[in-house]
Amino acid sequence: MKKLIIANWKLNPTTLKDAQKLAASIERAKKNTVVLCPPTVYLSQIDYPNLGAQDCFWAEKGPHTGQTSAAQLKDLKVKYCLVGHSEKREVGDTDEMVNAKVKACLENKIIPVLCIGFGTTVEQDDLEVTDVLKQQLDIDLAGVDASEVVVAYEPVWAISSGDPYATKKIATPDHAEKISIFIKSKFGVEKVLYGGSANPSNAKGFLDQQNVDGLLVGGASLIASQFNSIINI
Ligand code: PGA
Repeated sequence: MKKLIIANWKLNPTTLKDAQKLAASIERAKKNTVVLCPPTVYLSQIDYPNLGAQDCFWAEKGPHTGQTSAAQLKDLKVKYCLVGHSEKREVGDTDEMVNAKVKACLENKIIPVLCIGFGTTVEQDDLEVTDVLKQQLDIDLAGVDASEVVVAYEPVWAISSGDPYATKKIATPDHAEKISIFIKSKFGVEKVLYGGSANPSNAKGFLDQQNVDGLLVGGASLIASQFNSIINI
């Protein structure tokens, strides 16, 4: 079964030349579906089979300075869009805003990759984690056909500092599997990814789980050798 591996470059790199160089060094892997999410400003200049955006705005056009709409992303042949990433929630995205963005993606035939896990803590047990996730998903998926949405479970405490070599406490594959089952069984979601310090050493453990359908990779996606080894698992 093909897994979905998404590279979230975040606010990297700082030049178009470096972005194109990085994209060119990522293999066109056949084993898994691979998506690159470069910064929006580079999207039209990156040549890769599957592209994703890191965020979008809910309105299609109009007086919304600084925003990028799902309609504009669709015009750039973007197939996926991250929505509700914890780094966006940290600067003000509410669940209601996330819900509007998910809907805008679907209206434009872009697959939303709904990130949840903001507000979870390393001390919480599985039940407490699912309580937090339920609160998010109840709003994020309101009025949405959940089977059309990819959910990325990213426990915020496991997300790396951006340094791909930094070691961070990360979730166990077993925890990711349990949470994936919860999300699928309670919300009708069909695809759940894990994200948070995924790297070549731990990726297989997650991908071996039956209900973990792929990975959302930040730091390790900026180093071609690391990302290439993940997408070839
Ligand atoms: P990380 O980022 O792999 O660097 O932890 C994942 C993410 O934030 O999407």
